Amino acid sequence: MYNIALIPGDGIGAEIIREGRKVIETASSKFGIEIKWNEFPFGAEHYLKTGELMPDTALKEIKDMDAIYLGAVGDPRVKPGILEKEILLKTRFYFDQYINLRPIKLYKGVNCPLKDKKPEDINFYVVRENTEDFYIGTGGRFKGKENKDNLEVSRKLFQTKIEVNFKLEKEEELAYQIGLISRPGTERVIKYAFELAKKKGMNRVSSVDKANVLSDIYGLWRDVFNTISSQYPGIETEFTFVDAITMWFVRKPEWFKVVVTPNMFGDIITDLGAMIQGGLGIAAGGNINPEGISMFEPIHGSAPKYKNKSVANPVATILAGAMMLDCLGETEAAQSIESAVETVLSEGKTRSYDLGGNSSTDEVGDEIVKKLKEI
Ligand code: IPM
Ligand code: MN
Repeated sequence: MYNIALIPGDGIGAEIIREGRKVIETASSKFGIEIKWNEFPFGAEHYLKTGELMPDTALKEIKDMDAIYLGAVGDPRVKPGILEKEILLKTRFYFDQYINLRPIKLYKGVNCPLKDKKPEDINFYVVRENTEDFYIGTGGRFKGKENKDNLEVSRKLFQTKIEVNFKLEKEEELAYQIGLISRPGTERVIKYAFELAKKKGMNRVSSVDKANVLSDIYGLWRDVFNTISSQYPGIETEFTFVDAITMWFVRKPEWFKVVVTPNMFGDIITDLGAMIQGGLGIAAGGNINPEGISMFEPIHGSAPKYKNKSVANPVATILAGAMMLDCLGETEAAQSIESAVETVLSEGKTRSYDLGGNSSTDEVGDEIVKKLKEI
């Protein structure tokens, strides 16, 4: 039996999670898996009512469970950053989910905005580092003379470089944010990328960075990449700058097999990745700690505008559910869900609005359930 923490979250979260759960339950009874859902109310509504975001007590409870299934967080009534940082990022960090695995796959029947690209051209993985880089949350913002102490700290931190061009006057502001790359933090994600390539029979791993400008942190990233890649002589490797890879995702997506990237660049390029696979409605991701508790979610946000309209595409969430089952070792159940999704997308009779159809959220879920039962 699997104990799953269920966090529907905000906006369309509840609707898409309902469909995901329905599909997972169908797969479970088909394959003799038992799932116990443990629902948590965290998100904007709960925060506005109680002031609580993601309490440590809940994280401790979840620690004894097997995985987390998340809808989406984000709400216009709450200042940007609060829910994202205190719920989503807090959970990723707490469980040390150091891999953010985002498959970029164009399914048959889905329109690709890139001219002449076919499903066989767009089928790769982005392995995004998920705990370091500019996401560590270390930075500061302050005004000139009012905050002399702060300024002293930052001067020391940067060994005076900050004052080179100007002297801060009273009302003038300064802000900084630190990116951190560690050797062990980089080793584990790059190793995961190479192991994934090996497991999937993919013979190329592309590394993303901006070592031509941010040469300290991404210089270290490159060193680690070189060390790890030497242990996989059968796999081709390359370094790509982040600006260039956005161009190549569009120009020649068929080149890519496994892409491994620091956290922030990974955030950016996977939104682009979602577009070339036919849209955010299809893009799923897993925040994975291979030795611990992982969390699965669609890449898209909570789309508050569409809440309770039953127009959201549940496919990304359903595919995230398949990733969760796969990660739990339920490979067959995971594959059947993906096949059912594939069939529904390629038949094209039941489609949500984002894919040019007019089926409701639950109609899409029901159709996938139906196909799953037939497999
Ligand atoms: C994502 C999101 C998050 C991120 C935000 C909501 C914190 O954009 O999962 O890609 O930046 O990682
Ligand atoms: Mn993002």
